[in-house]
Amino acid sequence: MVKERAAIFIIFGGSGDLAHRKLYPSLFRLYKSGFLKDHFAVIGTARRPWSDDYFRETVVTSLKESFDDDEAIMKEFAQHFFYQSHDVNDSEHYIALKNLAAKLDDQFDAGHNRVYYMAIAPRFFGTVAEHINSEGLKAEGYNRLVIEKPFGRDLDSACELNGNISKAFPEDDIYRIDHYLGKEMIQAIPNIRAHNDKFEEALNSKYVSNIQVTLAEALGVEDRGGYYETAGVLRDMVQNHIMQIIGAVASDEPEATEAKVIHKNRTELFNSLKVLTPEEVDKDFVRGQYDTDELAENKAYRQEDNVAEDSQIETFTAGKIQFNSERWSGVPFYVRSGKRMPAKSSRIDIVFNEKVEELGIRPNTVVTLLIEKVDGHKVLINGIDYKDSKQDFIKLPDETKTDKAREAYESLIIDILAGNRIHFTLWDELRSTWKYIDAIRQRWDSQTADFPNYLSGTMGPDSAEMLLERDGNSWIWD
Ligand SMILES: NC(=O)c1ccc[n+]([C@@H]2O[C@H](COP(=O)([O-])OP(=O)(O)OC[C@H]3O[C@@H](n4cnc5c(N)ncnc54)[C@H](OP(=O)(O)O)[C@@H]3O)[C@@H](O)[C@H]2O)c1
Repeated sequence: MVKERAAIFIIFGGSGDLAHRKLYPSLFRLYKSGFLKDHFAVIGTARRPWSDDYFRETVVTSLKESFDDDEAIMKEFAQHFFYQSHDVNDSEHYIALKNLAAKLDDQFDAGHNRVYYMAIAPRFFGTVAEHINSEGLKAEGYNRLVIEKPFGRDLDSACELNGNISKAFPEDDIYRIDHYLGKEMIQAIPNIRAHNDKFEEALNSKYVSNIQVTLAEALGVEDRGGYYETAGVLRDMVQNHIMQIIGAVASDEPEATEAKVIHKNRTELFNSLKVLTPEEVDKDFVRGQYDTDELAENKAYRQEDNVAEDSQIETFTAGKIQFNSERWSGVPFYVRSGKRMPAKSSRIDIVFNEKVEELGIRPNTVVTLLIEKVDGHKVLINGIDYKDSKQDFIKLPDETKTDKAREAYESLIIDILAGNRIHFTLWDELRSTWKYIDAIRQRWDSQTADFPNYLSGTMGPDSAEMLLERDGNSWIWD
């Protein structure tokens, strides 16, 4: 048994949506593959007074939605699950949690390791972290704190939250989740760069015309209107996922394998973000909110449950991000994300200029990296499925050609147990990206938007097209 795989997971918010939809299925996959075996237990905690048996039933029920395995293996897995009723503000409950964790550690020989997982509302993150520390929950092995997004809602609140959790946990034990960093394609990008000298040589302002990142969703906010009203797409997608995708494509030294070096490079990149003035926000960022569709079959955003009738929250944004770095100076990074677009698509389009001919690459080549695997396993490069690719300009390293697409949360849990922080967001990176986003948010909050301004099922407001046309460019995915 590898010692690091032994752990007691304490899931705060153990009865919630994230835990049931993402965490338990991912733990189950790790159990089925033998990665997690005998030496682990999961304590789910929340206020409702569930019994262990009832909790296990809920776990099995949610597994049945994703897997068609024999129920017997699900029940066997669920024997590792225990429930402790707990209110985040009640100190005594933490003592009960501590005692239960110690008992289960003996029972499962779990190596005195603890993973504290915050699958709970962000306003509780600081309180829970402080109580874990003050009530002495930490065990003699490792003690790792996992924090879901959103990490703050602006720079000030992120600083405050970070201040609270860092009183209780050293930075090296904090794992801030951005689940895009768990996606195989994002993890493969540094690898692709490191294995393709010409591609890497071309990735700079001399040869790149522009880089486009699109995270489009076909769905609306569904039943998450209440959450969305506090977020909007700028906070929900750009500050975290889009910035981290840019970090993977544009930071220096892709061949680095040490977490510290990788994070240093990303931090340097984000520190060179050109923060926009209010006038530049008006010019370089556009926002939109979906209306119904042409046939009025879908609800407009303002008609969704728990959404204000006059909501000013944006469900679409497109913008031009620029860096003050030698490598990327003058290269626009066009980013775009929205709900109720014509299709779901998560992609990076790297558009080269004519000068790449010097490197033997066709002028104006576009390299497209699909972030979501098509059909579960394909990766598109140069618009060609890699399996059929005749291009020798760029090749996928063998280790990225797996047909077994791993769920993002599954690979993030493996990293947490291994103490590998490469695919998590560090505080220094967040500070810079929040500073950048705050400038846009503050400008928008000082103005009234003319919403709704795009029909469901379309590419967003016309201003998103004009943003690129103005520079003589156009969206590749259109
Ligand atoms: N759901 C997603 O797909 C998703 C995606 C990305 C990030 N996240 C993040 O993950 C976190 C959880 O989201 P969620 O969607 O799972 O929320 P959720 O379904 O509302 O679950 C919240 C959990 O917190 C518990 N809880 C609430 N108040 C509590 C208190 N005072 N003391 C102890 N437990 C309490 C709830 O159970 P009781 O009511 O029984 O206490 C429930 O188990 C949030 O930070 C969210 O932003 C969620």
